[in-house]
Amino acid sequence: MSEEAPKEYLSLRVDDGIAYVCIDVSGQRVNTLSTPMTERFEEVLDELRDTAGLEGVVIHSGKEGNFVVGFDINELQELSQRPEDVRPMIDRGHQMLGRFEELSVPVVAAVDGNCLGGGLELAMACHARIASNNDKTQMGLPEVKLGVIPGLGGTQRLPRLVGLQTGLNMILTGKQVGAKKAKKLGLVDDVVHPGILLQVAAEKARKMYAKGGWQKRPKASIGEVFSNPGEMVNLAAKTPARKLIFNQARETTRKQAGDKYPAPFAAIDVIETGYKDGFDAGLQAEGDAFAKLVKDDVAKNLINLFFMKQEVDKAKPFPWNTKAYPVDKIGVLGAGLMGAGIAQVAAYKGYEVRLKDVDDEGLSWGLNYTKELIDKLVKRKKISAPMGDIMFGRISGTTEYTGFGQADLIIEAVFEDLDLKKSVIKDLEEHTHDEAVIASNTSTIPIKEIASASKNPEMVLGMHFFSPVHKMPLLEIIRHEGTSSKAVATALEVGRDMGKTCIVVNDGSGFFTSRVIGAYINEAGWILQEGARIEDIDRAMKDWGFPVGPMKLVDEVGMDVALKAAKTLQEAFEERWDAPTALKAVAADGRKGKKNKKGFYKYKDGKGKEVDETVYDLLPGGRDRKPVDKEVIQERCWLAMLNECAYCLQEEIAEHPRDIDIGVIFGLGFPPFRGGILRHADSVGLPRVAERMHRLADQFGDRLKPADIIVEKAEKNENFYSE
Ligand code: NAI
Repeated sequence: MSEEAPKEYLSLRVDDGIAYVCIDVSGQRVNTLSTPMTERFEEVLDELRDTAGLEGVVIHSGKEGNFVVGFDINELQELSQRPEDVRPMIDRGHQMLGRFEELSVPVVAAVDGNCLGGGLELAMACHARIASNNDKTQMGLPEVKLGVIPGLGGTQRLPRLVGLQTGLNMILTGKQVGAKKAKKLGLVDDVVHPGILLQVAAEKARKMYAKGGWQKRPKASIGEVFSNPGEMVNLAAKTPARKLIFNQARETTRKQAGDKYPAPFAAIDVIETGYKDGFDAGLQAEGDAFAKLVKDDVAKNLINLFFMKQEVDKAKPFPWNTKAYPVDKIGVLGAGLMGAGIAQVAAYKGYEVRLKDVDDEGLSWGLNYTKELIDKLVKRKKISAPMGDIMFGRISGTTEYTGFGQADLIIEAVFEDLDLKKSVIKDLEEHTHDEAVIASNTSTIPIKEIASASKNPEMVLGMHFFSPVHKMPLLEIIRHEGTSSKAVATALEVGRDMGKTCIVVNDGSGFFTSRVIGAYINEAGWILQEGARIEDIDRAMKDWGFPVGPMKLVDEVGMDVALKAAKTLQEAFEERWDAPTALKAVAADGRKGKKNKKGFYKYKDGKGKEVDETVYDLLPGGRDRKPVDKEVIQERCWLAMLNECAYCLQEEIAEHPRDIDIGVIFGLGFPPFRGGILRHADSVGLPRVAERMHRLADQFGDRLKPADIIVEKAEKNENFYSE
């Protein structure tokens, strides 16, 4: 046995004619595949080949509720730096799984818990799969999320097992399915209680051995047998229909993700090759595509993003051993869009929630909204109807402060008005206990100012959720100078429990996210004011990778809200924050955006597809707009955003570049394939960034002058991420 392949990866035991291969990577909470694991599998395969009297093999995990979560991402990251080693590694993996397929006895995977990526590829190379009915059992191929495709035969085996359409869907979205769904799709043969999983898997192997014929791999080329009989008739008989499916998949992918992510397109090509030219040709194409993708910047950035997110999700509050206050009950003030959204997510995660508004009308709006969100979960079968009732039962409404005495955390989401927020905090504290943490969901007001109204300012901080709360993954936690570490630890614990990726930032106007998005929208406003067309600005930034353009974003957020934020930011940074008059003029016309169906776009059935040309009548230049270079729009907008991020770093609003990159991607829609805004600036090179910003500042205004930190780093030829 080689040094890199200690026994701790896999163990082999033979009992009554069945060989049990147990995957258990020691020192890791979860099992991952890796080169040492492949080496160990190869040894085990030799042992299996040399063991007489076998009737079957069962592959299972030694970790309860965890089969294999995929290929080791640390190794994947290393491989992206050593492209010459990728192809041989893929070939070796393909061969290893091929040897399992070709064993002289049936191999059955006993799947309990996460069976993802390489884990599912291993399970699919087995002759049958039995899954446990454990809630943790999830199966899927999430590789595209890391900018690559499945590289261990997944692109070939999955569509052959579940049918082309479903296989494509799972590979292109990275979507996971539970055990029951996997059975329905034909991905597993049976679903059983975890307690009898190994026994059922062994019986399955014995039966297959006795019956024979188990070696056949489901095939997909024309004239060969599909595992999915309906599809066999449709597709084997009709090549044009199959072509249509592939072309539709390309079209849908282009619509959903644009053309910035090469992996889904590569996956479609590779699957198509397998369907056209057979399994082996498909495997070859898969290996080639994987090797090409893994060294691409998109994969490098997405893999890096994965690690950054992990670091942020695990980061401890300072000091690291600070314990959070226990939180069972949460009070929410303001049953509007944000308050009700927060209440629903909290109830979903098991907290008892007390929701307060000023009057019955406000309260019932909020309660109805939470009910609608819960009903949607039931409708989409995410939760059962009784579970939905339990969840809604956790939220109780009030127009008084009754019940707030028991709340351990209170989240304030009343209107964005400092005086109101201060008076609400004062009233609230008459009714809460001393160890209650008070969080404000303000989007711009410095927390220090809100905390000044409190008897216990150390218990006050910001918990800035994003809209819609149930969908947006980021939570920005803001501590003012006096916030206690224990309060921060509490917000972090609850935020993570609510499923959010949390960044902790220091206090200031607009903290981090509102400031940064404000600078971006501000620059877009200038471009509009100078004569550009709304659709040109939005298209340019969508082409750059944002999910929506800045003008559309203002319509979504609400012109009134955006303007209020802009005012706060302008006051706070008046020496350099130069606001165009365009947005004010549009707001003065009563245009609030989507919410009053009147904004930069015309709204019909909730959708704003067409620009409302009458907006131009309110702007300098009127309807006589001029073309502006797409690259100029893109550069001005992203560099304005970068500059504000740099100021935040310089002023220690954010303490680590990682928090900024996670914040812009998960909170502001910055394109993930660029790896984060600071990382993107690093890849462009800070000397070049600084030089461009100086030129843009000369041409368009001093607000685009680079922050000192950019200039200094550029002069020293440093990066944001260099230590
Ligand atoms: P909203 O206007 O939908 O809801 C505010 C609610 O607070 C209303 O139902 C109102 O009746 C209630 N309210 C007013 N005074 C109250 C009091 N004394 N006691 C209890 N309830 C009271 O506003 P929205 O959009 O939910 O915003 C709330 C806060 O969240 C604001 O500070 C806003 O800046 C912030 N925020 C908003 C985001 C958004 O996208 N809408 C995103 C992130 C933060």
